[in-house]
Amino acid sequence: MNLFPIDRVRAEFPSLATRDAGRPRVYLDNPAGTQVPRQVIEAVARFFTEDNANLGGSFASSKAADEVFYGAYRALADLLGGQSEREIAIGQSMTALTYTFSRSLGREFRPGDEIILTRMDHEGNISPWLAMAEERGMVVRWLPFDKHSWRIEPHALDEVLSDRTRLLALNYASNLTGSINDVRTLAARAKKTGALVYVDAVQFAPHRLVDAPSLGCDFLTCSAYKIYGPHVGVLWGKEDLLQDMYAYKVRPVPDTLPDRFEVGTPQLELYAATIAAVEYLEWLGQSAAASDSRRSRIESAFAQITAWETALTQRLIDGLLAISGVEIRGISDAAHMEHRVPTVSFTHASRRSAEIASALAQRGIFVWSGHNFALELARSLGLDEEDGVVRIGLAHYNTPQEVDMVVAALADILAEKSNKAPAAARAR
Ligand SMILES: Cc1ncc(COP(=O)(O)O)c(C=O)c1O
Repeated sequence: MNLFPIDRVRAEFPSLATRDAGRPRVYLDNPAGTQVPRQVIEAVARFFTEDNANLGGSFASSKAADEVFYGAYRALADLLGGQSEREIAIGQSMTALTYTFSRSLGREFRPGDEIILTRMDHEGNISPWLAMAEERGMVVRWLPFDKHSWRIEPHALDEVLSDRTRLLALNYASNLTGSINDVRTLAARAKKTGALVYVDAVQFAPHRLVDAPSLGCDFLTCSAYKIYGPHVGVLWGKEDLLQDMYAYKVRPVPDTLPDRFEVGTPQLELYAATIAAVEYLEWLGQSAAASDSRRSRIESAFAQITAWETALTQRLIDGLLAISGVEIRGISDAAHMEHRVPTVSFTHASRRSAEIASALAQRGIFVWSGHNFALELARSLGLDEEDGVVRIGLAHYNTPQEVDMVVAALADILAEKSNKAPAAARAR
C-alpha cells in the first residue's frame, strides 16, 4: 500500500484542495462521478484557446480539431483494449448511447423475440431496452442476482436463455452493491444461443482494467466522467457490427467508422478532455522504459489503482462492520474482495439513509443515498425504494485517513439517538 504515490496523485486533482468554510472536503460520492486531474481541466481551456473550430477544414484550427476528434477515439480504444478507433462510439452519456444503440439494434428484432435484463443493473442499461422491447413487441426475461454471492450466477442465466434470446444486457459491476460479474462466463453462455451481449462497464472501468475484446461481448459501454474525465459516454463494439448496423445519422456524415455514429457537431472540448484523462492514467502508469505502449501504461495504472483501492475497501468494510446496526448490502468477506469494486452500500437498522447522508454532508463528507438508479436491485432487496442505501464510493485518490474519518463520523452519528422525522428521500 505504501508504494502507491498517493500524495503525487492527490496533487494532480485541484478540486481535492477545495475547502468549505475552512474545512476540507471528503469526496466519497465517486460512483456518481469522479473528480478530474489538472490536465483534464487544462485541456478544455487549451481546446478553446488553440483548437476551436468545426471539423474537416483546411485551416489550422480545423486541422487541430480533427486531431482532437480522432485522437479521442484512439485514446478510448487504448483505454478499453480495442484494436482501433473504428471500435469506438462517443455520445452524450452511457444512457444516451444505450438509447441510440437500442433503437438501431431493435430494427433487427421481431415480435416474440426475447431480451434478458438483470435485476442488478442501473436504469441506464434497463429503461432503453424496455422501451425497445415495447416498441418491437419483444418479451423481457428478468435475470436475478444471487443474494449470497451478490453476483449473477451462470445457472440463473441458463434458466432464462432460450433460442429466442436476441440480447443480454448486463453490468460488469453494480453501482449499488459494487459486485463484479463474471462477464466472460456469462457472455459465453449467452453466445451459445446466438444472443448479442451488451455490457455496462460504467462502474467497473474507473477501478479495473477493461479488456473489452477478450470478454466475448459485442458491446461495452462506460462513462468518461466516472474515469476522471469529462461528461461523455463511450461505447466499444465489434467493428463488423458497428459497420453493418443501422446508424441514425444525417446523410452528409461519412458512413465509415468511427464517424457514422456521430450525431451533429461533437462536444470537441470534451473530446480533448477525454484524451487528457487517458494521459493522466498514462502518467500514473509510466515506467522507465521509453518503449512502453499507451496500453501498457494504462495497464500499469490500473494495477496500482486496484491494489490501493482494495486495501482501502477492506479498511472501510472492517470499520463499517464494527458499527452496530449497520448492514452492508454487498460482498463483505475479505476472501472475495476481487469480486467487488470499492463502492460499499449499507442500511441501518433504525436510521434512514437520507438522514445519514445528510449528517455526513454536514461534516464535509460527501456520499449518496437512495436507490441510485439501481431500482430493480433496491426492490429485489426489499428496501424502501426511495430511501435505498447509504453509498460510500471510493476512488484511488482517497486516503486511509479519509476512510477512518467516515467510519468515525458514522460511529458518532449512528450512536446519537435520532429525534428527527425521516428526511425526504433524495435519491440520485
Ligand atoms: C452502472 C451504471 N450504468 C449506467 C450509468 C449511467 O451513466 P450515464 O450517466 O453516463 O448515462 C451509471 C451512472 O451512474 C451507472 O452507475
